[in-house]
Amino acid sequence: MNGASLLTARRRKTILWIVLSMPLLWLAALVIQELRQPNSGLGPEPTEALLHYLGEWSLILLLLAFSVSPLRRRLNWAWLGQHRRLIGLFAFAYVCLHVLVYAGLYAQFQLTELLDDFVHRPYITAGIGAFIALSLMALTSTRGWRRRLKENWRRVHRLIYVASFLALVHLLWLRKDPGLAEAIYLLIFFVLIIERMFSHWQRRRSI
Ligand code: HEM
Repeated sequence: MNGASLLTARRRKTILWIVLSMPLLWLAALVIQELRQPNSGLGPEPTEALLHYLGEWSLILLLLAFSVSPLRRRLNWAWLGQHRRLIGLFAFAYVCLHVLVYAGLYAQFQLTELLDDFVHRPYITAGIGAFIALSLMALTSTRGWRRRLKENWRRVHRLIYVASFLALVHLLWLRKDPGLAEAIYLLIFFVLIIERMFSHWQRRRSI
């Protein structure tokens, strides 16, 4: 990589950092407003508002991470592949905050309540499944783990299918009356799955 393209890669990384941090900065502004004047920033149900906001952005970033390979292939956006890890780690960070709000503000860190929810609320079980899959991917996303796991690294990172699927199950289970947003998330997921199947089929045909 020459100096010029390295600079562009760095610049792109900075822009991505700013863009991916925007929802968090906006949330921080809402929280500050809420602390100054209750019910103004997050509305009458601040915990629910936090949970929903972070959940929504977790899902959006997860689907964005899932889209990296198809976008790179179909639009020839090789540069996007260089930032796959960053996008994935941002998705993971949003999910961690979502889980933290749930465990801290919703369940008050009560282990019995957390376990009870895990067993009796299927949408929580699905959410935790997605969280475990994402945690494994985040943990093994470093160069060291890539070297150590060799061919198995790709297998571990196919957990993105499981994480995205379970995250959608989590959402559809808890929303009683799914609307346009849920239809769009599902459509994106199925388009991405079909593209991956098609590209797999194309690769096998060309061998
Ligand atoms: C990849 C993982 C996850 C994603 C993408 C995700 C996403 C979401 C989304 C989009 C919502 C709905 C927001 C709305 O209705 O506006 C939500 C709600 C919620 N999530 Fe998650 N979530 C994940 C994991 C988890 C985990 C691990 C837990 C708990 C251990 C959890 C607990 C909740 C709760 C309690 C709600 C609110 C339910 C309610 O409205 O009654 N989520 N999540």
